[in-house]
Parts: sequence; structure tokens; C-alpha cells
Amino acid sequence: MSFIPGFHNTTSPKRQFYMDLMLQCTGLLQGQRNLVTNTANISSLVYHSLLETPTRADKPVNWVGFYFQDSTNPDSLILGPFQGKPACTQITFGRGVCGTAAKDAKSVVVADVHEFPGHIACDAASNSEIVVPLKAANGGVLGVFDIDSSVKDAFDDDDRIGLEAIANLVVEASDF
Ligand code: SME
Repeated sequence: MSFIPGFHNTTSPKRQFYMDLMLQCTGLLQGQRNLVTNTANISSLVYHSLLETPTRADKPVNWVGFYFQDSTNPDSLILGPFQGKPACTQITFGRGVCGTAAKDAKSVVVADVHEFPGHIACDAASNSEIVVPLKAANGGVLGVFDIDSSVKDAFDDDDRIGLEAIANLVVEASDF
């Protein structure tokens, strides 16, 4: 599924960037269903694509990665594959940005992490953040996809739609 609803027939560079990224993600996941393998490669592709596209030069990302629902502690997320500095390993549902997105099964876009109640500061360089849930077909939350930037207000609704499409693709293409 490399279709992003609402992004076709657009002249918006950001929407075109996400449609192209979605195609690259689709290719990268072809023929492989291992969850660790797929989320490792998607973290790398999304991190480098966001960091290196000239249209986002003023909004650098510093962390891109996944947390999964912890099978031994279902009220908690556990760190998965990522790009960036080492991060906290366990996040309780409802805590911080990741825990909030997981608990509510809803994306959270935070313009200034210092104003988000309970924000968990893994990398002191982070100033804004977007977290999208990994949703199972039955609506349950399997984990989250988390992207941080060192500048405030780095993510908008187009980022949310593009990253949600990538998160959905990862869920469809991987065995959890
Ligand atoms: N800041 C996140 C924690 C994860 S790191 O950003 C990698 C949060 O508040 O949930």
C-alpha cells in the first residue's frame, strides 16, 4: 500500500516527499516480514530521508524509532529499533508523548516538548516530537513510531498523515 489519502495530485513538496518515501518504504519491506528487521530498516530510511531532504534543512530530526507493546508487561512499551542517541527502554502506557499516543491510540504532535506534561527527555537536544501509533486491524495498539527534532514546531499535519501511512504499512508488512 503506497497510497497516501489526500496526497495525490498535489504540488506540495512535502506531500510529494512523503509519497516518494512511502514508495521507498514499500520497496524496502518487500519479501521480508520480520518485525525487528523491518523496523530497523524503516528507522534508518526515514531518519536519513527526513534529515537529508533540502526542504527540511531547517527542521533536522535527531531521533527516529519504534517502541513496541512489551509482551511480558502489556501496560508498557519497550524500546525497539531506532536511529539516534540511546533512549529510555521502558515507557508505561499513559506516560510521556509515546505513552499518551499508545494509551489513546492516536497520533500526538508536540510543538514544544518542554510544555508537554510528563514528557520524557531521552535526548536533551529534542525540542519537538511526533508520535504515531502502530494500530492492529482490530484497533489494538502494537506500539508507536516516534520522531524527534532539535527545533521547535518541526512537525505539522502533513507529517502526521505521511508518518501514519508509513506506520500502517509497517504493521501490514510485518509479523508482530
Ligand atoms: N520523548 C518521548 C520518549 C522517547 S524519546 O523521545 C526517544 C516521550 O516523552 O514519550
